Amino acid sequence: MRKMLAPQGRPQAEVLREMRDFKATDCDWTHGRAPLFVFKASDSLYEFGRAAFVEYFSENALGGGRAFPSVKRMEDDVVEMALSLFSAPDGAQGFMSTGGTESIVQAMQTCRDWNRRRRGQARHRGNIVMSETGHPAFNKGAKLMDLDVRRVPVGPGLELDAAALESAIDEDTIMLVGSAPNFSYGSIDPITELGAMALRRNVWLHVDACVGGYLAPFVRQIGRDIPAFDFAVPGVASISADLHKFGFCPKPASTVFYRDADKARHHHFDCNVWPNGRFLTGTLVGTRPAGGVAGAWATFQHLGVEGYRDIARALMGFIDRYKAGITAIPGLKLLGQPHLSIVAFGSDEVDIFRVAEVMARDGWLPGLVQKPKGIHRMMSMIHEPSLDEYLQAVRTALAEVRGQGPQRQATIKATY
Ligand SMILES: Cc1ncc(COP(=O)(O)O)c(C=O)c1O
Repeated sequence: MRKMLAPQGRPQAEVLREMRDFKATDCDWTHGRAPLFVFKASDSLYEFGRAAFVEYFSENALGGGRAFPSVKRMEDDVVEMALSLFSAPDGAQGFMSTGGTESIVQAMQTCRDWNRRRRGQARHRGNIVMSETGHPAFNKGAKLMDLDVRRVPVGPGLELDAAALESAIDEDTIMLVGSAPNFSYGSIDPITELGAMALRRNVWLHVDACVGGYLAPFVRQIGRDIPAFDFAVPGVASISADLHKFGFCPKPASTVFYRDADKARHHHFDCNVWPNGRFLTGTLVGTRPAGGVAGAWATFQHLGVEGYRDIARALMGFIDRYKAGITAIPGLKLLGQPHLSIVAFGSDEVDIFRVAEVMARDGWLPGLVQKPKGIHRMMSMIHEPSLDEYLQAVRTALAEVRGQGPQRQATIKATY
């Protein structure tokens, strides 16, 4: 039967209590059981971000330009600080958005319109060339804008195959995509090579740094080997980078950047077609929580470079222990070359999806990659306290699966 709005309401405290009780059915993310979705550097930073968000709970970032200059100011600050983090040249521009998908779709639209202008073809359709490891947000954008996406298989080491990518380019290609890192295996694509290709073929290169944008620069600063991925690479035209992932800012918050004003000029939606006058926005959405802007600004202020470096040090130390723990288990191996905190592992001996199924039964929500089969996690410090417990769960599940023999088939499917 369809649920109806109750004739009479209930006391607020009772409703809140019930909502809290609902959570009992959710994945226990606070104890590291979710393989993605939530990010945390420390409890205190988490609470601080929440406080900053709540401070701007009612304001609307849509009105940043007119009603809330403080929101606009914080947004401009965040973008400017990020531009220098990404080696942006003078004249580069950036904007905040509500998430990786929105940043990507906006970069695609900007690129499409820039291409249409320079080709003098107002209806040019165009295609986008990327590795199969690129995020589905590009297909979402392509669906909205009726563009084609050409996904190219990875090479034998699960790395982006630059030669295959280049041969997929034709005269209608408007964008190349590289990821820093890609979600599939956590490796940073060869952006320098893609940048050279983009210049050679006269195509826009977008770097999807939604995962690594606010982590990789600091991981490099603590002395780890991080390949170039930002505007320091000639040929990079735009970058997407999520604050609400490894910038450790409250959701929703992301950023998108363009190398120069000529490209950025196609970013905005500027429309004056109705009785209420000009409608000018830099986001796909209209109304947008100012809390996301405030949370990002406050997090930047509080952490500074040193704070982000400390997080990078702690997180990468944990990831080292995670990788060592996994590879010490006989029969398991890492997939690809993870650079940051996305790590996937598989097995040549057992069906790893069976292992994930057993772990799921015991409360570990599976993160899976299907090609090749692997268990996949995008980790932050939420996952650190349960490291030993997790490794023990993997060992126990592996032993159980080995005991069952190969005839038992996994029914679980990889789902994002
Ligand atoms: C590489 C990459 N790009 C883009 C996105 C999309 O981000 P969002 O979920 O904020 O839209 C994700 C999400 O995990 C991602 O991993």
